[in-house]
Order: sequence, then structure tokens, then C-alpha cells
Amino acid sequence: MVSKTHSQLIIVFLFLLSSLNITSTSYTHDAVNFDKWVSRNVKKYEERKSILKTKVKVAAPGPDLKLRDAESNKAIITVRQDGSGDFKTISEALNSIPPRNTRRVIVSISPGVYREKVMIPRTKAFVTLSGNAGNPPTITGNDTASASGRNGTPLGTFQSATVAVDASYFVAINIKFENSAPHEIGRRGEQGVALRISGTKAAFYNCSFSGAQDTLYDHKGLHFFNNCYIQGSVDFIFGSARSLYQNCYLNSTTTKVASITAQKRSNSSLESGFSFKNCTVTGSGHVYLGRAWGDYSRVVFSYTYMDNLVLPKGWSDWGDQNRDSRVYYGEYMCSGPGANLAGRVPWARMLTDEEAKPFIGTQFIEGDTWLINTS
Ligand SMILES: *[C@@H]1O[C@H](CO)[C@@H](O)[C@H](O)[C@H]1NC(C)=O
Ligand SMILES: *[C@@H]1O[C@H](CO)[C@@H](O)[C@H](O)[C@H]1NC(C)=O
Ligand SMILES: *[C@@H]1O[C@H](CO)[C@@H](O)[C@H](O)[C@H]1NC(C)=O
Ligand SMILES: *[C@@H]1O[C@H](CO)[C@@H](O)[C@H](O)[C@H]1NC(C)=O
Ligand SMILES: *[C@@H]1O[C@H](CO)[C@@H](O)[C@H](O)[C@H]1NC(C)=O
Repeated sequence: MVSKTHSQLIIVFLFLLSSLNITSTSYTHDAVNFDKWVSRNVKKYEERKSILKTKVKVAAPGPDLKLRDAESNKAIITVRQDGSGDFKTISEALNSIPPRNTRRVIVSISPGVYREKVMIPRTKAFVTLSGNAGNPPTITGNDTASASGRNGTPLGTFQSATVAVDASYFVAINIKFENSAPHEIGRRGEQGVALRISGTKAAFYNCSFSGAQDTLYDHKGLHFFNNCYIQGSVDFIFGSARSLYQNCYLNSTTTKVASITAQKRSNSSLESGFSFKNCTVTGSGHVYLGRAWGDYSRVVFSYTYMDNLVLPKGWSDWGDQNRDSRVYYGEYMCSGPGANLAGRVPWARMLTDEEAKPFIGTQFIEGDTWLINTS
């Protein structure tokens, strides 16, 4: 059923797009590269599909059709603080996207510091925030869990995020996400999230996430982080998502003892977990690689360089020994002084090739079905 409201929406959207003066000349250099990159990968998929068709009868898991449609029908809008773009703020640009969006909208953001609380609701899928590789824009805020929100009640960790994404198919390229609230060990309510990602099938390329306590709320869904910089003091990568972190740089700023991750998998039948592949773990203080937020917390580090800040024990059950037999904390082919396995807790796992396999590729996040860049 094509409802009246639906067709009205389409008309509103078309009107909006035409009024934004979206022409090929407004494509930035980055967007053009992004375009090439998308078409190359869609083409690759088409080739793969035709090979599969001739060899096997069962339909192969192809990319999401909604995603393919969205990518083949892209729009670009620009944000420039000097007023020479379509919008001056990121929020204004996002507000221009109609709900139930079905096409990829690339929000091309000029260099600068954007003091905005950015929220992308569930109804606005397929948004890409794209910055300049040489001079990426920073989106910054300083809300904390204890800051007062509406009606004077504390915001809580969830609402402290500078950027919160509830929509699926979100992409960020060359963006710095920041929460500048400080963290003092022992003080309560200082969780300050830089980015919360709750939509599924989200990818982050060349992004940076900085904060102190609880920087990156990797809340839920399937996520890919490639070539990203993530910095914080306590539990600075946390949540229930199933995510692959590849070629990322994890920098601890704690002055005492903290944990890098707090992965929350509360049930053995849940598919969530964090996999870090070819990353670097460095910075100050002493850190656990992970502490068990959920009973079945699952984290794997592979091919990762670990500096000597990593505690010999490696992992923490957060004071609950029942979790020792339930968590899945694995390491595979890591290097550096922090990767010495001699002092590890007995329930840490040294993965075999077979055990490591499901974690060390984009298959961990079903990347074949939705990652545009599958290389
Ligand atoms: C947060 O940033 C604003 C400026 O955007 C500043 O006025 C305020 O003092 C900061 N709050 C804290 C706790 O740092
Ligand atoms: C990400 O950064 C690398 C350099 O570190 C660059 O080669 C690559 O083109 C960038 N990717 C995108 C999508 O801008
Ligand atoms: C591993 O990460 C480093 C640093 O990000 C990068 O230069 C290198 O190409 C990566 N190696 C592989 C095999 O991806
Ligand atoms: C990592 O954090 C430390 C503080 O703990 C800081 O001095 C250093 O500059 C950071 N590294 C990078 C690459 O930003
Ligand atoms: C795990 O979740 C499944 C599905 O929601 C549920 O049926 C099961 O009872 C849960 N198990 C535990 C141990 O909580």
C-alpha cells in the first residue's frame, strides 16, 4: 500500500532536494572519491553474485537491497560555518533530511569546531557525515551523566553523548567526535560520551573519538571501525554491539588503573562482542583489556601491539567470579610488552587459528551483506 502520506513525503523530499541546489559541481573532492569507492564495490558485488549464481543454486547472502537502492540514489548537502554551504550547522543539515529517508545523504562538513549536540533519530537512515581527510571537522560537547537535563534530572550516560545515532546505515568518514568533560578518578557522574551508536550496519573510517570516561558507547548493532583513533580514561569503549575494530589506535589517558573496554553481553545466546584486529594499545596508567560488564562479556584482540601499560592479568571479572567461566576473552597473535601471556588470568583464552577465525574478518559483523568497503 502506497499511502497518501508516503507519496506526500516523497514530494516534500524531492522539493527539498531541488531547493538545496544539489548539482554535480557541489560534490567535494572527498565525495567524488567516496562515489568511486561505492561504485567499485557495488560492481564487485555484482560480479561476485553472477559467479555465485552459476555455481550454486541457493541465493547467496547479498547486500541489503535497501542499502543498494540508497547508494544508487545519493544526495549531497554541505555544511560550512562561513555560510557558503547549504547549512551552517550539522543539526540544520540533518533537520533538512525527511523522516523515512531511503537514499544516501552525504553531509559534507567543512573544517572547523562544531559545538553541537547532534542527534540522528531512527527514522533518518543512510546518513553519511564526511569531513576532509587533511583537516577533519570536530564535533564537540561536554555533557556528563550528572549534568542536569530536562526537569533538572541528571542526563545519565546515555544522554551525555555529543553525537547520538539511532539510525541504521550510518557512515562517518574523517570526523572527530569529542566530549571534552574532564574525568577525575573517584568522582561520580563524570561519564561523558563522545559518540553513541545504536543503529545497526554503521561504519566509521578515519574517525577519532576523544573523551575521558566512557568515550565511545558502542551500544548495539553491527559496526565497523577502520583506521580510527579512540582515547579515554575508563571503560572508553563500552556497550553491547557486535563490532570489528580494525587498524585502530587505542590511547589510554588514565593516571591509575582502568579498563579499556566494558563489553556487555548478558546472555550466552547473544551475538554481541568486540573484536580488535591489528590495533595499537598505548597511553598512560595501567589498563585491563576488558572488564566484564555483562556475565558473558566477549572481547578478542588479534594481531595487536600492546604497550607495557597492559596489566599482566589482562582481564577483569569486575569482582564477580561467576563471570570467570562465562566471559569470552581471547587473544591471538598479539605483540609488544603488554601482550606477554605469562601473567594472564587463567580464564583468558589463547585462541587457536580455528577459534580466532570467526573474529578476525568482516564476517564477524556480517560485513558481506552491508559493508560498502569490503577490502
Ligand atoms: C562546557 O562548555 C561550555 C562552553 O561550550 C562552558 O561554558 C562550560 O563551562 C563547560 N562546562 C564544563 C563543566 O566544563
Ligand atoms: C583514510 O586515511 C588514509 C590515510 O591514513 C587515506 O589513505 C584514506 O584515503 C582515507 N580514507 C578515506 C575514506 O578518506
Ligand atoms: C595494520 O595497521 C597499521 C596501522 O594502522 C597499518 O599501517 C597496516 O597497513 C595494517 N596492516 C594490515 C595488514 O591491515
Ligand atoms: C595518548 O595519551 C597521552 C596521555 O595519556 C598523551 O600524552 C598522548 O599524546 C596521547 N597520544 C596521542 C597519539 O595522541
Ligand atoms: C537468553 O535470551 C534468550 C532469548 O531472549 C532467552 O530465551 C533465554 O532465556 C536467555 N537466557 C538467559 C540465561 O538469560
